[in-house]
Amino acid sequence: MDSNAAIEVRHLTRRFRQFVAVDDVSFDVRRGEIFGFLGSNGAGKSTTIRMLCGLLKPTSGSAIVGGIDVTRDPEGVKRRIGYMSQRFSLYELLTVDQNIRFFGGIYGLDDAKLGERRAFVVEMAGLTGRESTLARDLAGGWRQRLALGCAILHEPAILFLDEPTGGVDPLSRRQFWRLIDTLSQSGVSVLVTTHYLDEAERCHRVALIHAGRLAAIGTTSEVKRVFADRPILEIRADNPVEAMRQLDTFPEIEKTSLFGTAVHAVLRDSRVNAEDVGARLRAGGSHVLGIAPVAPSLEDVFLDVIDRVSDSGHSERAQRRESREGATASEPRERSGGGAPASERVGESAGPHERATASEPRERSGGGAPASERVGESEGRSPSEKK
Ligand SMILES: Nc1ncnc2c1ncn2[C@@H]1O[C@H](COP(=O)(O)OP(=O)(O)OP(=O)(O)O)[C@@H](O)[C@H]1O
Ligand SMILES: [Mg+2]
Repeated sequence: MDSNAAIEVRHLTRRFRQFVAVDDVSFDVRRGEIFGFLGSNGAGKSTTIRMLCGLLKPTSGSAIVGGIDVTRDPEGVKRRIGYMSQRFSLYELLTVDQNIRFFGGIYGLDDAKLGERRAFVVEMAGLTGRESTLARDLAGGWRQRLALGCAILHEPAILFLDEPTGGVDPLSRRQFWRLIDTLSQSGVSVLVTTHYLDEAERCHRVALIHAGRLAAIGTTSEVKRVFADRPILEIRADNPVEAMRQLDTFPEIEKTSLFGTAVHAVLRDSRVNAEDVGARLRAGGSHVLGIAPVAPSLEDVFLDVIDRVSDSGHSERAQRRESREGATASEPRERSGGGAPASERVGESAGPHERATASEPRERSGGGAPASERVGESEGRSPSEKK
């Protein structure tokens, strides 16, 4: 194992019956690194995290977390890591103080240590004076910070945060990320999933996962290099959908996507002239308000890798199916919202933060960033998009 790697994942795979939720995923997370896990709903992020936390058995592959093999010693992993689950992180009917004490008990802290850590968490989360408030009565930002505090009571060197800021306002998200930065600076490795692109930009490295597969990995600048030889033009027009329809007929344009009211057109060749494209759009009847090259955003990268993985996945899956069933042209099983139905769910096991029997899952309201800033929350693009 690389002495600098806090997490080492090799060919990690998880099936739920025939459905492959995590498909041959390999990556490392370094000591003190903030590693962002990005992907659409159902991409396999939580399933990966649950395997790394020792909560779910991998079907195959390996993962070493803090020097411990998750398959051989899942309990050992659980003791050494902090985990904020996507579904549940606090007991709603317990107060701030009771939640801290409860989780301190789970992590086996003695009274002296608990007192010290309790003071730290209350201070860190800005909860001074709110110790007797029920968790369910806390506003979103405080809840998330308390949940984070409960996850780090035992001072773990590795922290898994599964969509910690879902539904939280932008200011609270910033505060939360300052805490993540502080933890990282103190040497804690943080693997965090998010649908917010501004948060992804704050990660040292990101991994994009789609349909269970790792589609890209690197710093945000590195993953944007997929566009090194394919410039992107941003086009503003009176009727963007019509402009997109026209652009889709231009041979030098690989694909188009709608970004809010603008169109992003990926060019096949870096020599294409923006003015020339604009002139042809105007000649075709579009009222073009502006056209200029634009630096790729993470959202561009995200859409691009999804296209590539989907294309290769389609042909590979089709081949597998053909060889298995002798089928010819059947569609691959649709993945969005897919997987096994809830009634078929298997292999679930509860960890410290998932032993929630009496509490409701965390409410996931649609607050936070506008849809245009999120990645993979829905299909993320216009149905008329060209591929
Ligand atoms: N216990 C289970 N039994 C069957 N299928 C499952 C189980 N857990 C997850 N899945 C399926 O595996 C796929 C990946 O789910 P996962 O929760 O890992 O996605 P995710 O990337 O975390 O998505 P989101 O952004 O919505 O949280 C989904 O299709 C899901 O329905
Ligand atoms: Mg998830």
